[in-house]
Amino acid sequence: MLETLDPKTARIIPLTEATEPGFGVYVHWPFCAAKCPYCDFNSHVRHQQVDQARFVAAFKAEMAAARALSGPRTVTSIFLGGGTPSLMEPATVDAVLSQIGQLWHMPDGIEITMEANPSSVEATRFRGYRAAGVNRVSLGVQALNNRDLKWLGRLHDVEDALKAIRLAREIFPRMSFDLIYARPGQTVEAWADELRQAVDLAVDHLSLYQLTIEEGTPFFGLHKAGKITVPDDDMSAELYEATQAITAEIGMPAYEVSNHAAPGAESRHNLTYWRYGDYAGIGPGAHGRLTSGGEKFATATERHPETWLAKVETEGCGFVDCESLAREEQADELLLMGLRLREGVDLARWQALSGRDLDPAREDFLIEQGFIERLGNSRLRCTPKGMLVLDAVVADLAC
Ligand SMILES: C[S@@+](CC[C@H](N)C(=O)[O-])C[C@H]1O[C@@H](n2cnc3c(N)ncnc32)[C@H](O)[C@@H]1O
Ligand code: SF4
Repeated sequence: MLETLDPKTARIIPLTEATEPGFGVYVHWPFCAAKCPYCDFNSHVRHQQVDQARFVAAFKAEMAAARALSGPRTVTSIFLGGGTPSLMEPATVDAVLSQIGQLWHMPDGIEITMEANPSSVEATRFRGYRAAGVNRVSLGVQALNNRDLKWLGRLHDVEDALKAIRLAREIFPRMSFDLIYARPGQTVEAWADELRQAVDLAVDHLSLYQLTIEEGTPFFGLHKAGKITVPDDDMSAELYEATQAITAEIGMPAYEVSNHAAPGAESRHNLTYWRYGDYAGIGPGAHGRLTSGGEKFATATERHPETWLAKVETEGCGFVDCESLAREEQADELLLMGLRLREGVDLARWQALSGRDLDPAREDFLIEQGFIERLGNSRLRCTPKGMLVLDAVVADLAC
């Protein structure tokens, strides 16, 4: 049984079965007005105008190629991510969403999310996105003080962020925003104050990410040179615990490592990833997982925007990879994604893919250490302590 958007509350009615992960479509807009010094996403700055009509034609062609692989499916969510998708014209968004509706079955009221930067928000565009069908926005607020916003290289200030939040709340049935914490020198008290402000501004969903120093970014060089000091493991754990406690206290507990929502307000699209569902990944550098003829394919497209465009224009699609995943690989991915979720992993599904049981000695050890727990006989999940060392837990269970 698939869930729908309740028209009265504009909230998703959650899946009754976590084993029905849905089918999502992700579309990547690879451009930003400026590159943030911490970001290693596939985002690029262009000083000349981007030809959006050309991108629309290419998105359409690549979607048709994904449809040929996926066959007919019912779309349960769409996500326009980036980069900065709020640099797209509303007509571009409209054309992309219309094409999805032409290729797959797209029931009314499915979740359609768009990422938006507070600096590129204005009411007419927001209304245009809403008219095109977007019903959820995710705003990149990142911090609620101007000093940190500047340090993070953001183009907006707190006033812009508050304006964007107000507009989003007014125009879209659902909204969320992102904050980055564990910034240099940030104390637990300062973060708790900022988070409490955020909680007052939020509706029912927040994404709260610990700052990661990504290789190849300007922050990586500065960190290596000792010019940026991030919180150590103990401090990170304290910040994480404060985040869990404050969001749980106000009824928006973590449903995933960094994502917090009131029950029913979870991001349907992201749940599809973490529940290891299928999704089409469209646009430069997008990844997908598509089942066809009983096989699950991992797709990846060319990352560089203009190279991707040229490839689609000459070959009809920008895929550089379309690899059939062995069942054991699928089992590993299911575990990796599912243990991020508070609802955990369906063990029967994992066993069916891996063709084996979990090693009882490893499982007992991790349970004794307080890293994982069983939910009845059928599900396994990480405890909050286990979430802090998730990669190690997955590595231990998967091998
Ligand atoms: C793909 S970004 C796009 C969002 C949008 N362009 C923006 O920046 O407002 C999605 C989110 O990832 C988070 N993020 C990106 N790089 C990060 C990093 N190095 N550490 C922690 N969070 C990061 C930010 O919170 C950001 O809003
Ligand atoms: S605006 Fe978002 S996607 Fe663009 S560089 Fe900054 S964090 Fe990355």
